[in-house]
Amino acid sequence: MTLMDAIRQRRSIRKFEDRPISAEHVQTLEERITKINEKTGLHIQLITDRPEAFKSFLAHYGGFRNAANYIALVGKDTGALDEACGYYGEDLVLFAQTIGLSTCWVGGTFSKKKAFYEAKEGEKLCLIIAIGYAAEKKEAHKSKKPEQVMEVEGEAPQWFMDGVRAALLAPTAINQQKFTFILKEDGSVEAKAGKGPFSQVDLGIVIYHFEIGSGRSLSEDGNN
Ligand SMILES: Cc1cc2nc3c(=O)[nH]c(=O)nc-3n(C[C@H](O)[C@H](O)[C@H](O)COP(=O)(O)O)c2cc1C
Repeated sequence: MTLMDAIRQRRSIRKFEDRPISAEHVQTLEERITKINEKTGLHIQLITDRPEAFKSFLAHYGGFRNAANYIALVGKDTGALDEACGYYGEDLVLFAQTIGLSTCWVGGTFSKKKAFYEAKEGEKLCLIIAIGYAAEKKEAHKSKKPEQVMEVEGEAPQWFMDGVRAALLAPTAINQQKFTFILKEDGSVEAKAGKGPFSQVDLGIVIYHFEIGSGRSLSEDGNN
């Protein structure tokens, strides 16, 4: 399965099978997380067999069942943390999808107090991603139209439209889809976040999708 297939198939899954993530899957995920942490200085951690964070009224009310594993997105508490967590968290979400795991970004409906993670001095937990084997099927989310999230003078090239369509398939907090992709005269693309909860995390997520869909990197060096 390619990352583009994963973009098309992914849905937020909140009900999981009552079984641990296989040792092989844990190892593959850990390897990817280590690479990201080495490259970015983020402190992302995979937490397994720890259901406590989902044993709160909020999590139950939010529809979580058998959620016991998560990716804790931790990093240096700077203005750039949210977008970086969105970008690299979504890399892990789509990678997980390609190996048969399902996920749900969780910014609000979990207990931060009961969550297990390590934060060194100056670091903080941004949010988590629940992960496991899906025990439910979901429909695709309702979506805005491409014209509502793009600014282009004249006709947009195919690669740009492919990027925008991939971004519209991305998860966003409360499905707000508050972002805009702007095609500038020099051919470069600017992505802007709107106002709303976790909108900078959403921005990182949709940039990742745009890059996969369009085949172009938004940052000059490709490292975002
Ligand atoms: C930054 C972020 C925070 C989210 N927080 C929560 C949350 O606290 N609880 C929850 O159940 N879903 C949460 N979600 C999942 C969204 O509700 C979901 O992505 C959106 O409704 C679109 O549905 P889809 O992911 O199935 O396409 C979050 C998603 C994102 C991107």
